[in-house]
Amino acid sequence: MTEFIPPYPPRYKEWPNPLDIIKFARQDLLSFWPSKAFQVQFTGMTILTKGFFLANCPDAAHHVLTQYGHKNPLMRKALAPLLGDVFDSDEETWYKPDSNQSDLFNPELVSLHNETITNATENYIWRWGSLTSAETIKVLPEMRNLTAEISCKLLFNKKLSVEKSREMLGIFSQYQDAVEKMDISLFLGLPGWLPKFGGNPITKAAKEVHKITDDFIAQGTKNDNQDTVLSHLLTVRDGSHPNGLTATQLRNELSMLFMAGQETMANTLSWAWYLISQSPDVEKKLHEELDCVLGERSATLDDLDKLIFTRAVIDETLRLYPPIPLLSREATGYDVIRNREVPAGSIMLVVPWLLHRHEKFWHKPNHFMPERFLEGTRPHKFAFLPFSGMPSECSAQFFGTVVATLSLATLAKNFRLALPEGQVVSHECHLTLRPKNDLPMLITKR
Ligand code: HEM
Repeated sequence: MTEFIPPYPPRYKEWPNPLDIIKFARQDLLSFWPSKAFQVQFTGMTILTKGFFLANCPDAAHHVLTQYGHKNPLMRKALAPLLGDVFDSDEETWYKPDSNQSDLFNPELVSLHNETITNATENYIWRWGSLTSAETIKVLPEMRNLTAEISCKLLFNKKLSVEKSREMLGIFSQYQDAVEKMDISLFLGLPGWLPKFGGNPITKAAKEVHKITDDFIAQGTKNDNQDTVLSHLLTVRDGSHPNGLTATQLRNELSMLFMAGQETMANTLSWAWYLISQSPDVEKKLHEELDCVLGERSATLDDLDKLIFTRAVIDETLRLYPPIPLLSREATGYDVIRNREVPAGSIMLVVPWLLHRHEKFWHKPNHFMPERFLEGTRPHKFAFLPFSGMPSECSAQFFGTVVATLSLATLAKNFRLALPEGQVVSHECHLTLRPKNDLPMLITKR
């Protein structure tokens, strides 16, 4: 079994004082956790009169997510400026489905896009194949282009050229950069600095995002393809939306789905390439599985059940580098959790970054060991929460897993990526957890 331990931020001996926590959280959400945070199961502290509780074991995490599931999911909050308001967003600009939104990404729809995933990945075989050997590529932007292409086809039935995809990602990342420069501690309910709206970079970037999404909607509604998320959203009629979604709701929903989806999938794939490159044993087992299951062809949905080790590599990547490493909720009433009183209005944190490396729930928690996800050894459901948990878990969990597994399989069947000598990999983490500096790696054909 591989013994690779990817580097992680230094851990404090004790909890930093509350003011330092606010200071550190503004720079990096992973930087302020002490060693104790990887051992404790439930704890709380007061920061400037506000109660903060860390639900850091499966039963407490389960309680918080089920009890306060729909209150303030971090991702919607982070995308709120895009959706027309800052935090107390106008509900009318959002699509709030009466039933579970996972209908949007049901396995039937995903299976209709089997070819979308295969074709998009095969374009990379062609593109990467034309590079000279041992050329350096920037893995994170490459993976963003790939996942943007797949997302666009699923959402709008829109084929993206590499140039268009770059332009679009440029616009979306301007928005993301602007949001991330905003004081991150606000998202956690901490006091912070709120920029003035009107003419600020977030509003400007949001307008650009709206423009591009409107354009895609206009093109997507012209063709009569029924197998897209757009076509599904156009037919929504429920108690809350008897006349269907408004144009604003439609645009906001699709912008959010695009941003939430391509970033999380691209981060997962990028971290997976890094981890595989550092673990010869894992790389060997992965190649053995791919050669055996795929032979000379690309992966399709039919292979999913056979790509057991590839899937374990993705799960282990999501454990070590959960793309959304911190979930925050608000206690809507007085509560008692693990014999501790929780006042109404407290901020409840469920932190996959901590839970996934918790010393009580994982053997060798900091090691990269995909084998731990093989049959018979799967972890407790609420100790592994890369997609959050019901009732507000990621609506596109199945789609995200399929895209990550199949595209890694097809690309790793054909190429190896290695770190240039002496290159140190580190992370950046504001809202999502991604490799810093775009992760340059050397590519060679297999
Ligand atoms: C590896 C891939 C992915 C991971 C790890 C992931 C993770 C998550 C997590 C943890 C949440 C809950 C956030 C919270 O409760 O604060 C979430 C929500 C969400 N995800 Fe994903 N996601 C992935 C892929 C996708 C994709 C592909 C899409 C869309 C195409 C998507 C769309 C969304 C949306 C719209 C929400 C907000 C749900 C709501 O508030 O109603 N995700 N995701």
